[in-house]
Amino acid sequence: MHAQTSRSAVTGDDVRSQLAELRSSHPELHALTDPRRLADWEAALGATLERHDDFGADARSSRGVEYVQAQTLNSRARETGIRKLLGFADTARRRPNGERPFLVDLLGGDGLVRKVCEEQGIGDFNILTCDASPHMITSAWAAGMPALLQRAEQPLLRDGSVDAVLLAYGSHHVPPSDRQTVATEAHRMLRPGGTFILHDFLVGSPVDVWFEEVTDKYSATGHKFPHFTRDEIGGYLAMAGYDHHEVTEIDDPYTAVGDSPEEAELEIGRYLLNMYGLVKVFDGRTDDEAYRWVTETARAIFRYPEGEGSLAESELRYEEADRKWRITIPRRAVVGVGRMAAAASDAP
Ligand SMILES: C[S@@+](CC[C@H](N)C(=O)[O-])C[C@H]1O[C@@H](n2cnc3c(N)ncnc32)[C@H](O)[C@@H]1O
Repeated sequence: MHAQTSRSAVTGDDVRSQLAELRSSHPELHALTDPRRLADWEAALGATLERHDDFGADARSSRGVEYVQAQTLNSRARETGIRKLLGFADTARRRPNGERPFLVDLLGGDGLVRKVCEEQGIGDFNILTCDASPHMITSAWAAGMPALLQRAEQPLLRDGSVDAVLLAYGSHHVPPSDRQTVATEAHRMLRPGGTFILHDFLVGSPVDVWFEEVTDKYSATGHKFPHFTRDEIGGYLAMAGYDHHEVTEIDDPYTAVGDSPEEAELEIGRYLLNMYGLVKVFDGRTDDEAYRWVTETARAIFRYPEGEGSLAESELRYEEADRKWRITIPRRAVVGVGRMAAAASDAP
């Protein structure tokens, strides 16, 4: 278990190889893990992973390969939302020993949030990417992102060990019966002053319509996952025992750029098609026709009432600074924020 591992030897279904690599290349992240929880998880692993993995590598029944490809080709597509989410935890400070605050990304996929934060200088978090899909954990390590196979409802980190817990970009995949456990476990892992951020989309919102009318019909996996209500999120945070909690909404658009308006439109279509694994859109269409269809469908569905500073419908404009055309498809997300009281010694 403690042998040295090279990053290429880390595989998503081998928790021991992940721990060995964490120990050697990120000892501060390895130190967050709880040996007792790890032992219980390893013992139950076979049975636990039997649930269907929508983000696996098998193209006939999963959409993991296209999903990772979409994030790799356009890693800044959701930068606006990521920036806002991390902003909810910006009270976290470095430790007296200079260590950066820790954030655990419970639905971390291929490590996109860590990658965007590193590349765009967002926040000051040392992010541990976690995910229940072995394919995603393999992809995260391959991209140089430290990662650990775990389920959001059964996290493997110690009590009071991290400064922020993020459940985002897929919270609806957590079944309603497990959602309270996730909020309560996040509370357990947080240090005084820590923040839990729960991000998803409202029942009945344009995103809900998109998943029902597009992802469910045109992907290999289908998409039958219930989204959230504001009261539901507030209830989880209250029950988990956070000292303060709020439920709010943020702009969380998709963007893509191109050298021409047409290229930007094609790029956003390609991004959304891959991200949601909409393989059936290719039936009877060329690639470009399929991307255009996705763009036009997204434009029709992602529409919002006029709001202060928020886009109501998609926008295409030339950006002088980059000399590129940028398309923005608006999307609004609901965010629950649970905060732990600061320790008495941290009070001003
Ligand atoms: C839409 S992806 C988001 C990945 C990444 N955060 C991003 O924004 O690109 C959702 C991820 O949640 C993972 N997931 C779903 N249910 C989970 C659970 N109960 N515990 C841990 N991960 C889970 C999936 O395997 C998938 O990688």
